[in-house]
Amino acid sequence: MVAWLQAGLLLTDPRHSNDDTMNDPQDQDTHHLTAPAAARNAAPILDVLRGALPASGTVLEIASGTGQHAAHFAAALPGVAWQPSDADPRARASIAAWRAHTGLANLREPLDLDVRREPWPVGAVDAIVCINMIHIAPWEAAVALMKGAGARIAAGGALVLYGPYRRGGAHTAPSNEAFDADLRARDPSWGVRDLEAVEALAQAEGFACEALVPMPANNFSVVFRKRAATASQ
Ligand SMILES: C[S@@+](CC[C@H](N)C(=O)[O-])C[C@H]1O[C@@H](n2cnc3c(N)ncnc32)[C@H](O)[C@@H]1O
Repeated sequence: MVAWLQAGLLLTDPRHSNDDTMNDPQDQDTHHLTAPAAARNAAPILDVLRGALPASGTVLEIASGTGQHAAHFAAALPGVAWQPSDADPRARASIAAWRAHTGLANLREPLDLDVRREPWPVGAVDAIVCINMIHIAPWEAAVALMKGAGARIAAGGALVLYGPYRRGGAHTAPSNEAFDADLRARDPSWGVRDLEAVEALAQAEGFACEALVPMPANNFSVVFRKRAATASQ
């Protein structure tokens, strides 16, 4: 089982109905896993991506999970090369199966990429997308994500995050507070992150927050844009 599926995380996310689990690969002859939450949020996230990503170039997706998003976004954005990745081999197998299933020419083979393990197996990219990872990983993963993104994205490039956030030291909804407690009970190093702390990490790596977009189910999309280097940098 994929670690986060094994944890029953999506199944017990109190912010969603209890169909939020992935299908077990044994149940699917193609082995491309599906998660109902990813099916539901793909369209609203794509709306944000259309406004944030370049029309062409390489987009690196960190923590691609099942690969559903990668397939959806690559199909909708044919001008970009979509580079999925994940730290978990079962996730990468599912992503590869989605790639085979869809036959999309602009969907690349998934990379074995753990943000905390340098060097990343990829050089400069035009943008990075990371959906639902930083609250389901230790804080060090958020730090590493920002460092890696800062090193690989040139001025003008985007880093897009999606997930739940605390704002001003408080949860934005009771359901997020329950979700946070559930995450921390599973692993004390996990938890819904403070948006301001994430923004501070991004700023330290040369990004400015361009947009904060409220999303369904009390999530946010955060679009960071790499600033031009100043003379003092
Ligand atoms: C809840 S899933 C989200 C998957 C997908 N982005 C989605 O929204 O459906 C979290 C993903 O983060 C990945 N992940 C956790 N820690 C990671 C790390 N340090 N580096 C890269 N990926 C990581 C897991 O393997 C898992 O696929």
